[in-house]
Amino acid sequence: MKTKGIILAGGAGSRMFPVSTIYSKQLIMVYDKPMIYYPLSTLMLGGIKDILIITNSITIPFLKKLLKDGTHLGIKISYEIQDKPEGIAQSLIIGSEFIDNEQIVLILGDNIFYGSYDFLRNAIKNNKGATIFGYYVSNPERYGVIQFENNKTISIIEKPKVSKSHYAVPGLYIYDETCSRVASELKPSDRGEFEITDVNNVYLKQNRLNVIKLGRGFAWLDTGTPSSLMDASNFIETMEKRQSLKIGCIEEIAYNMKYIDKNSLKSLIKSYPTCSYKNYIEKLLM
Ligand code: TTP
Repeated sequence: MKTKGIILAGGAGSRMFPVSTIYSKQLIMVYDKPMIYYPLSTLMLGGIKDILIITNSITIPFLKKLLKDGTHLGIKISYEIQDKPEGIAQSLIIGSEFIDNEQIVLILGDNIFYGSYDFLRNAIKNNKGATIFGYYVSNPERYGVIQFENNKTISIIEKPKVSKSHYAVPGLYIYDETCSRVASELKPSDRGEFEITDVNNVYLKQNRLNVIKLGRGFAWLDTGTPSSLMDASNFIETMEKRQSLKIGCIEEIAYNMKYIDKNSLKSLIKSYPTCSYKNYIEKLLM
């Protein structure tokens, strides 16, 4: 089965005020590249080549300038507008035509994953219904939290005041072709949003939700606050300096995944200004 990808890259970004009055936070740099490069990399490394980006109308022209239609990366990128940030689950409704009865991977534009991507490729291959992930964090109350009983998932609670579980749900979800219908049947929550946690709980009730715990050797960062953005930038800088390898370099990933060949990479490089990002990609040709 073909799997498509959606990056949800709008949002109110209230915690990123005042920059979020200009455009969506996904354009902000996380160390040496725009935030959206990271979720895009995750999808590309998961083997996904047909990607929809959903953002607000002000941000669309910036993202189109940055990522175009994806041809230069050997992938296809299309765009849809979310006028108001009315919830993560709304992306499944906005994207219903794009989804077109295929399986999809939804990723939030401010989520960064670092580690081996075998878990994602396997989860995509084995998904029946929906697959979400559980990641042990110190502050689960900021997220959807998975409640386990005897290691079995019994519910997912959105931003609980007090949580017994430390397992938060990262912004990376795999859904079968029924997801748009599930989302369209939801009612907005008390905070007025179409909650992705409600979608996941529908799949859970139908016994069609797979929950995979990510190991502690894997990094999941979100960049929704000034402080977590700084942490993420520092993390990327530390790893990149240590290894002299870039995280989330979409040209490198396109080349390594064989989405583009050497000649396409060469002509892409020619259009880049002199800078360390260009120098890094040039080394791939040696
Ligand atoms: P959130 O962190 O839930 O919200 P936000 O980015 O709007 O920020 P704040 O809470 O500070 O107001 O969003 C997670 C990601 O999902 C982020 O990348 C923005 C995106 N998003 C949308 O694009 N549309 C939406 O309706 C929501 C709720 C989020």
